[in-house]
Formats: sequence, structure tokens, C-alpha cells
Amino acid sequence: MTSYMHWSNARDPPSVAGMSAPERQISTSVLVIGTGGSGLRAAIELAEAGVAVTAVGKRPKSDAHTSLAAGGINAALGTMDADDSWQQHAADTIKESYFLANPHTVEIVTSGAAQGIDDLERYGMPFAREDDGRISQRFFGAHKYRRTAFAGDYTGLEIQRTLINRAAQLDIPILDTVYITRLLVNDNVVFGAYGFDLDDGTRYLIHADAVILAAGGHNRIWRRTSSRRDENTGDSFRLAVEAGARLRDPELVQFHPSGIIEPENAAGTLISEAARGEGGILRNGLGERFMQNYDPERLELSTRDRVALACYTEIKEGRGTPNGGVWLDVSHLPRETIMTRLPRVYQTMLELQMLDITKQPIEIAPTAHYSMGGVWVRSDDHSTEVDGLYAIGEASSGLHGANRLGGNSLIELLVFGRIVGQAAAAYSAALPAQVRSAAAVAEARAEIDALLAASGDENVRALQRAIRDTMTEFAGVVRDEDGLTRGLAELDAIEARMADIGVHPDVAGYHDLAHAFDLKSAALAARATLEAALERRETRGAHNRSDYPEIDPELQVNLVWSPTTGVVREAIPPIPAEIAALIEEVSVAGKLVE
Ligand code: FUM
Repeated sequence: MTSYMHWSNARDPPSVAGMSAPERQISTSVLVIGTGGSGLRAAIELAEAGVAVTAVGKRPKSDAHTSLAAGGINAALGTMDADDSWQQHAADTIKESYFLANPHTVEIVTSGAAQGIDDLERYGMPFAREDDGRISQRFFGAHKYRRTAFAGDYTGLEIQRTLINRAAQLDIPILDTVYITRLLVNDNVVFGAYGFDLDDGTRYLIHADAVILAAGGHNRIWRRTSSRRDENTGDSFRLAVEAGARLRDPELVQFHPSGIIEPENAAGTLISEAARGEGGILRNGLGERFMQNYDPERLELSTRDRVALACYTEIKEGRGTPNGGVWLDVSHLPRETIMTRLPRVYQTMLELQMLDITKQPIEIAPTAHYSMGGVWVRSDDHSTEVDGLYAIGEASSGLHGANRLGGNSLIELLVFGRIVGQAAAAYSAALPAQVRSAAAVAEARAEIDALLAASGDENVRALQRAIRDTMTEFAGVVRDEDGLTRGLAELDAIEARMADIGVHPDVAGYHDLAHAFDLKSAALAARATLEAALERRETRGAHNRSDYPEIDPELQVNLVWSPTTGVVREAIPPIPAEIAALIEEVSVAGKLVE
């Protein structure tokens, strides 16, 4: 087995408030940033090929965000509906993206999905099965057929466990207390990354031929979100942009219809779409099954954007529950169904609210759930415009367009984890030499030094909260020009205050330093989102503009953003005829009916 890392204490520690912070150097062929499903899957591909790989992450690997993914993973296996095909899966994905998905990316994911499931089975994933052994598949919103495989409503947790086990078999080094602050780039070629240990402040200088960015999206910059504290704070966006890459469609953020409302510190926690997939019913505060007014055919199994907007509209127009939500009711389902198909929803509601969902409805409201845009990548191999830098999973872009089909993100990470692993391995093998930049390393060191010396009056957590408030107020489910402009003005003011923050690591660790970097990431992600949302003067999928309630055919383009170029339009490749033939007309029923 290859020895994956070379360690040395190459530099004397800077001294911080009496604590020493040595610097460790690591050399590896490929560095993976992020230890969720996409990062681990890529690392596994590399290790299986004998390539030296190291994965780093900022939270315990067993608790990476993938572990929260609930209801399932899509592949046209046809175990329940024999007529299904990967081409139909592609057609459903493109149609529900409102034609903003890259058709080539979609083809790669949907045609490779069965192999993604095979890989998981090979690693020991315990999928739910029918009595005869077939993998069970359930309906998820807006899929033509049942194609969502699952493990109760703990699918992401089981995938994460499965990948961790496989990574352990391969002896992949995983450092899951390392916060990456910068990518190291010389002349538009990445040569590693810099960071620090969250527990003891040890600096990390990691040299690598290639870097895979798998550090999630930016949905934690809204107040009600299905992400927990300190995850999905926009780290991938900032790291990529500061390295010279661009973002695509940052304004396209999926609001999941069902996040819980209480308690306040868990507001937004997801109630899986599986609850509706298994027959759950939505009612407003008056007891009306309101989806009849928005999508009478598909009702609760309409697309996420429509169901989220419907819930929002009911609440906004005064037909909500006393706490400002709507009801999601599964109490009519057999207890057995709830216990076997929705065990996490059952446990979550008992733990957080002492509510028994076999007897009572759940009070829910839309929650920021998924970054459908992300780092600009090429569709073939998810390489970025910075040589040697790749992005995958929620960090990347191209598959989901303006509305993601539930269950597509988990399959994406399996498919592109494999492909990106192979691409990074080939890049590393072909690299004739690596030229590093001492200046880039010095800048990375100086950035941390400066933050550790920051002793201003502004509280980092309070500023994070201010960004979340701003995004919630001005860039939520429904947006308009005035609000987005005001959002940008608020952000200017928050950024001015950021010049005067205080950072205070203590004996408990360096989390306050991490929060300061999270804040920088959140500010960048918020700016990208607001500026792109302003430019998208139309209503399409999850992006609802009350001042532009129609789809604008001219805006059937991706919006690509960087701090230097602002927003530029990018054409989307044509849809292959074989897939176009399977796409039925996209109805706009249920859009902006308020
Ligand atoms: O509702 C859910 O279980 C979420 C699934 C997804 O976002 O893919």
C-alpha cells in the first residue's frame, strides 16, 4: 500500500495568546477538501487506483452533511417500474431544471447512476429491499417513475457510513479537524492548500498535484435552513473564487417545503420529502388541502419549487398555522409504514418537540436546503478554470438548474466522485513538474496571523447572523428588485463592520478563527447570490421574482459570477434529440399565484 503522507514540522510555531501553533507539512498527490459523500467517493476512487490521497474536513467525518440526506438516491433501475430508463431520468431532470441544467452533465449522471448504486452495493450499502430481494424504489416529487432507492429515511447516513468503511479498508488518511483557509495557486495552477487544526491551532501546509473541492454549498447563509451550524457556509465558493475560479448560478437555491419551525435553534431541520412520497398530506391553518389549488394533478408530489412556493403563499396570505407554518400530516399512514419508511422523521419530532407523528401533524415551513448552483466546472470531469482544481457535489454546478429533483444530489456525488477521482489521478500522473509559490504560502500564513491578531469590537457570530437575516429578508422564496438592492446595501454595511472583528481562540480550540473564515465565505456567497438574483429578471424554478413573474426565454442561460467580472451570461448546450423526445411540456401552473 502506498504511503500517503509525509509529515514534517518545518517551521517554528507562531505564538498565539500563550498557545503554540506549529506548522505541519503534508505532501500528497491529490488533496480532497471535504469528507462528505462526494469527497469520500473521490478519495476511494483514487486510493483504489493506488494514488496517494488525503482528505481533510472541518467536522467529524461520521457527521458530515451527507449524513443528513434523508429520503433517497435516484437511479433508473426499473426495479418497481420496468418502463423506466436513464433517458427518462435525464428528461425529468432537464425538464424540472427549467432547462438550465447542462444536458451533458445530466446524461453523465443519469447514465452512470446504476453503476453508482452498484458501487455502493459493492461497498456494503444496506438498501431497503422488496421481499424478493429487489432494491425498493419510492416516488419522489416530479419523477415519472419510482426511481428513488433508500434506506428508511436515513439514506445519506447509511451512504456516509458505507463510504467511511470503504475508506478505512483502503487506509485513506482522513483529517477531519482541519479547516482549509486558502487554496495555494501559482500562475493559475493549484499546488495545495493551507489551513489549521480546529482543536489545537496547528497550521497545515499541504502540497498536492491536484485538489478536489468537496466542501458543500451555501444554504446556511439563510436563517431557516436544513444545514446545521457551521456547515454549508459557502467555503467552497470562497476558496474557489479566491483561487481564480468562478461561480455558476449562485442565485438558484432550493427551498425545501418542509423544515420544522420550532425550537428556534433547530428551525429549518428537514422533514424528508419521503413523508410526502409515502402519502403525507399538506393542509393550511384552515384545514384545506391547499396543493389542490397549485398542482391539482400531482398535489403533494409536485415539484419542490411549487410545493415550497405554495406553502410560502399560504403562510404569507394569512392561511398559515398560529406559528406561521402549514401542516404536514402522516398520521393517517399505517404505523408500520412510519416506523420502517420514516423512522428519522418519527425520532426527530419526538426528540425536538415531543410530538408523535403517528397521531399529530407536523408544523412546517420552507427551509433553505440546497445550492443548485456552485463552482463553475466543465461537464466532462468537473475541472475548473484553475488547473488541477476540481469541484464536486454541492460545491459544483451543472446538474440541477433552477429546480433539483429530490434524490439527484446523492447520485451525483457517487457518479462524479468516481469520475473526478479518475480525472485528478490522470492530471497528477501527467503533471511534469509542480512550481510552487512562496509568496502564496506567505499570504496564507499572514491571513491567519492577521485574524488571530484581530481584537475589534465586532462579534463574528453576530455578523453571521446579520448576513442570515439579510438573506432571509431580501433573497428568500420570493424576491424583487427593491429587496435585492436593499440586501446588497445591507451587505455593504456588514462587510464594513467585518473590518473590525475580534477573534478569540481559547483553550477549547480555534473555532472562533474558523467562524471568522466562515463569515468571509458567507459574505462572498451572499454577494454572488444577490448580484445574480438581481440579474435574473424572471421567475424560473426556485427563483421567484414577484416583479418579473414570467419565464424570460432570453434568460434560459446560466449566470456566471466572479468579483471582477460580475454576472455574465453563458449559453447552455442543446439537449440530445433522444432525451428531448421524452420531455413533456413544462407547465407553469402553481407559479406565483399570490
Ligand atoms: O426530502 C429529502 O429527503 C431530501 C432529499 C434531497 O434533497 O435529495
